[in-house]
Amino acid sequence: MLRVGIVGALGYAGAELIRLLRGHPEVKLTILADKLEKPVALSSVYPQFRGKLDADIEPADSERIAQETDVVFLALPHKVSQEYVVPLYKAGKIILDLSADFRFDDVTTYEQTYGVRHLDPKLNREAVYGLPELFCEAIKKARIVAVPGCYPTSVILGCAPLMGKEYVDPHSIIADAKSGVSGAGRSPTPATHFPECNESLAAYSVAQHRHTPEIEEKLSALAGMPLRITFTPHLVPMNRGILSTIYVKLKSMVDEEAILKRYQQFYQEAPFVRVLPVNTLPNTRAVTCSNFCDIAIVVDARTQRLIVLTAIDNLVKGAAGQAVQCLNLMRGFPETAGLL
Ligand SMILES: NC(=O)c1ccc[n+]([C@@H]2O[C@H](COP(=O)([O-])OP(=O)(O)OC[C@H]3O[C@@H](n4cnc5c(N)ncnc54)[C@H](OP(=O)(O)O)[C@@H]3O)[C@@H](O)[C@H]2O)c1
Repeated sequence: MLRVGIVGALGYAGAELIRLLRGHPEVKLTILADKLEKPVALSSVYPQFRGKLDADIEPADSERIAQETDVVFLALPHKVSQEYVVPLYKAGKIILDLSADFRFDDVTTYEQTYGVRHLDPKLNREAVYGLPELFCEAIKKARIVAVPGCYPTSVILGCAPLMGKEYVDPHSIIADAKSGVSGAGRSPTPATHFPECNESLAAYSVAQHRHTPEIEEKLSALAGMPLRITFTPHLVPMNRGILSTIYVKLKSMVDEEAILKRYQQFYQEAPFVRVLPVNTLPNTRAVTCSNFCDIAIVVDARTQRLIVLTAIDNLVKGAAGQAVQCLNLMRGFPETAGLL
């Protein structure tokens, strides 16, 4: 059994990792850690684990984590995460980092976007972007995987089959995305506090969200040219889920059936992408607590635009599930192990 640790285990993504890895056939959870002075019972914070996993969350200590694990999942805020990645990598561990710290090929873009210095740009070059539908072979060989952001997962999976296709204008992409409140993590802020967000729908970080450069870097690489996209996130009063509606200008009219076929072919080997049939639209309920990304396409002949809709669970395909999917590839387990 693979000895696995989770750091940031008290957070939402960390708790989701515990839920998934607890049922993984090849994994033994050996250490759960967080920013603590003394251990706390997991079930005192997340009572849903009572009787299922009677473990403590321990104060995080890199040396002890290195001793007790083969693989470490880091579900930590950006900047904090790299402080763990560097020593754990030196200790020979396999690392799956859910933060933004190793997601960018271009460290300067990371530093400008997140306003922090990267601790180890050389090590950054070792990291592979953990989107299995696009980078499966590289993930299999990686020792550090940077698990993509939740919004980038939903937008990149929606756009990837179109990149390099002459019938779309890749410079015209507009992504309008709506997320449940767990996307903001466990600590409430004025905007995510229940009375502020309940019964309300609001856009935020318009034209300046941190996930925009991440989406642009990956789509530009796929398109083979620098792209700028318009991305507008919204906070929806629900616990989890992201629905992205993406608009792309068609340079020439293409049959909806032909585009659908392109998506079906592109994702035919992808066990967690469900390309929906014509006249079927995705919703977040259908993917809640699952690692699926549902995708639908609609051609609006009137405006000559393609509309792509994607739905994921931000904590699963947008975070913990995608990380487990990457681990499966890295270790040669079935890609779906622990996830279906
Ligand atoms: N939530 C999502 O849907 C989602 C999706 C994709 C990616 N992510 C990424 O995943 C990471 C975790 O997100 P989250 O939503 O789970 O956040 P979260 O709920 O705030 O959890 C982060 C956890 O890390 C702990 N922590 C902070 N500094 C630490 C340190 N130095 N040592 C050990 N633990 C420390 C936090 O403790 P305190 O609260 O006491 O500081 C908290 O328990 C972030 O980088 C986020 O961007 C999240």
